[in-house]
Amino acid sequence: MSVQSNESEVILTHPDDSSCSTTILKYGATVISWKLKGDEQLWLSSGAKLDGSKPVRGGIPLVFPVFGKNASDELLSKLPQHGLARNSTWEFLGQTKSNPPTVQFALYPEIANQEMTALWPVDFSLILTVELGLEHLKTSIEVNNPSKTDSLKFNWLFHSYFRIEDVEGAFVSNLVGMKVYDQLLKETYVDKHPVITIHEEKDLIYQNVDDDRIIQIVNKGVALHTIKRINLPDAVVWNPWIEKSKSMGDFEPKSGYQHMICVEPGHVHDFITLEPGQSWKAAQLLDKTSIAFQRVE
Ligand code: BG6
Repeated sequence: MSVQSNESEVILTHPDDSSCSTTILKYGATVISWKLKGDEQLWLSSGAKLDGSKPVRGGIPLVFPVFGKNASDELLSKLPQHGLARNSTWEFLGQTKSNPPTVQFALYPEIANQEMTALWPVDFSLILTVELGLEHLKTSIEVNNPSKTDSLKFNWLFHSYFRIEDVEGAFVSNLVGMKVYDQLLKETYVDKHPVITIHEEKDLIYQNVDDDRIIQIVNKGVALHTIKRINLPDAVVWNPWIEKSKSMGDFEPKSGYQHMICVEPGHVHDFITLEPGQSWKAAQLLDKTSIAFQRVE
């Protein structure tokens, strides 16, 4: 069986290679593991809560309908940081393809976290599709506005935590020349660094990055992770480093910041607005493309 579902999670195993698998927690529809040839690709905190008591620290949490803590929108500002999708138990819709094994999950107000829908009484429907290839993991999202009268305003982001041997030996490529908002400095500038290296806390939101810029996490000359974006113009690069890791109770071990980096494809710089009946689609494709240098205009 390439898809197994129990009360709390769904496990996909590739029919042509059983060492290739992914596990999705129904809480948050959070991918908590992705293994290729038995090697874990994602970082998951050993202190992560997997019991639905708080969003998962690691894997691929889903951010909707707001990125960060909003201060200006009348309704979205009432929601906690990163919205309600990662704090809600999604409905498992089942398997839609046998090879590559593909499954879908849904979230809508009736089943979403009720404390949060009370704060944000807006109609929406989300369908997440997870496809496990022999060499890739694709997560696709479709957001629908089922309302007959009201528009739906939202951000979307795949908050992907990647596992790496040594963050200081790695770099993130292909964001040179992009406009970036530095959440720590609270400044916007054009990043002139040919690559992003991590030797301190980073919290950067790159804006309007063309879809054809393939972002890679390169370690010792090898592309460990390749991140392709479909209809997701922004990319957040985050590493909490020492002090911020200490302040997060579920970030364990405290030295974990050395072995992870978040590269988060999203649409967060501005909001997407769907009129009644409209829908929006986007995806993140993680694969094993070897190191690719791209020409930057
Ligand atoms: C990142 C943000 O996406 O998520 C950071 O850019 C934030 O500012 C981080 O600290 C983690 O957020 P949380 O809510 O999971 O602790």
